[in-house]
Amino acid sequence: MKAICYISNFSDSLRKNDIDDLIQFVNLRNKEQGITGVLLIRNKYFFQILEGEDEQIDILYSKIEKDTRHKSLVKILDTKIEGHIFNAYNSGEFETIDSYSDIKKLMTYFSWIKNADYLEADELILLTTNFLKYNP
Ligand SMILES: Cc1cc2nc3c(=O)[nH]c(=O)nc-3n(C[C@H](O)[C@H](O)[C@H](O)COP(=O)(O)O)c2cc1C
Repeated sequence: MKAICYISNFSDSLRKNDIDDLIQFVNLRNKEQGITGVLLIRNKYFFQILEGEDEQIDILYSKIEKDTRHKSLVKILDTKIEGHIFNAYNSGEFETIDSYSDIKKLMTYFSWIKNADYLEADELILLTTNFLKYNP
């Protein structure tokens, strides 16, 4: 199993409708595929964590990398994991959090896995909270 985390910028042509379509597609497709994680959308940035089987995540990431709806992708984490870190988040369903969503649920989840001493989660928590700090 592996987790990949990246950050990217909206492409200039991206409109509200495209984002709505993307959110719907991503949540549904990842649920069907058993991929867990989160997609945060703030300040014209995407920040995504994807977790799943190695091959599945590598194939997906190579598609995402080529997607013209965003640009300037920077992969910030690509690591082996023992199991899904987000399997208990949002009933195990992939979630997209946009600027209108409440991020309290995510923060509560993070403090819960921190208490559980889930070492593999620490880096993901740090990356996510840093992203949110700069994109409140
Ligand atoms: C910011 C961003 C995040 C995306 N995240 C996912 C994702 O988590 N899962 C997914 O299946 N597609 C995601 N996509 C869409 C993929 O780039 C691609 O369009 C899609 O996987 C096409 O799948 P198909 O070729 O199997 O139809 C994302 C696209 C963007 C721009």
